[in-house]
Amino acid sequence: MSNEKPIGIFDSGFGGLTVARAVMDLLPSEDVVYFGDTARYPYGPKPLDEVREFAFQIAEYLIDEHEVKLLVVACNTAAAAALDELSTEVPVPIIGVIAPGTQAAIDVSEIGRIAVIGTVGTINSGAYERAFSDLSKGEIQPLTLACPGFVEFVEKGESSGEQLQVLAERLLAPIVSANVDTLLLGCTHYPYLARAIGQVVGSDVVLVSSADETAFEVSRQLNEIDLLAEKEKEGKRVFISSGDVSWFAEVGQRLFGPELASAQAHEWNPST
Ligand code: DGL
Repeated sequence: MSNEKPIGIFDSGFGGLTVARAVMDLLPSEDVVYFGDTARYPYGPKPLDEVREFAFQIAEYLIDEHEVKLLVVACNTAAAAALDELSTEVPVPIIGVIAPGTQAAIDVSEIGRIAVIGTVGTINSGAYERAFSDLSKGEIQPLTLACPGFVEFVEKGESSGEQLQVLAERLLAPIVSANVDTLLLGCTHYPYLARAIGQVVGSDVVLVSSADETAFEVSRQLNEIDLLAEKEKEGKRVFISSGDVSWFAEVGQRLFGPELASAQAHEWNPST
């Protein structure tokens, strides 16, 4: 494996761009291939078996066609569904977002009262209860809450507005009354809704995302296996979408910035 191969990052759509941003900021010399499975989003309401199949397909595509040297599952739902199996079955190191996010929340919380919000698939999988139990040695039991509908706002390119505010107030009510000091955004789409979420839970609650801690983990692992790219060059960025590519570039650029001026298409074979 060569140091100059790209890092692969994937999500159901735009959410993983929050992680890609942190990876690119921390490791600007790395080439990155980002895949948003917008043709098949949202993953959250789908059965975990189906999401697992998607995750394997994308991993195979990024490894076979783009020769990625490391893979980041920048989607909590896909990580909850498939990270363990992927780790044993794919031939490159693989990093999810659940453990890094959990660690970041534990580090930030002063009183150990933490809530986690995510998709129905992520929350029902129990992945966060397991991660907190492991990483806090059983000391912290998070309040977990599914927020169906949030992802769709981001995918529509809406991160503010009255409809979103009404939904946020309804969904997040149990958190407002739970006296937590930390809210972990357990879906990579949610940092794009941080303003709306923060307005509901109040400024005393610290919002934590998994992006930075995941980027540090990418850096640690690449360093450990001696696969960091040369420092002097500027990394190349490729964005791929399985759905409407011009929409992906338009909304993606708004959310992510000018590097996402264009995207490439990847169509899944209709039989898959
Ligand atoms: N960004 C994905 C996650 O972190 C969103 C899943 C979806 O498509 O519903 O779970």
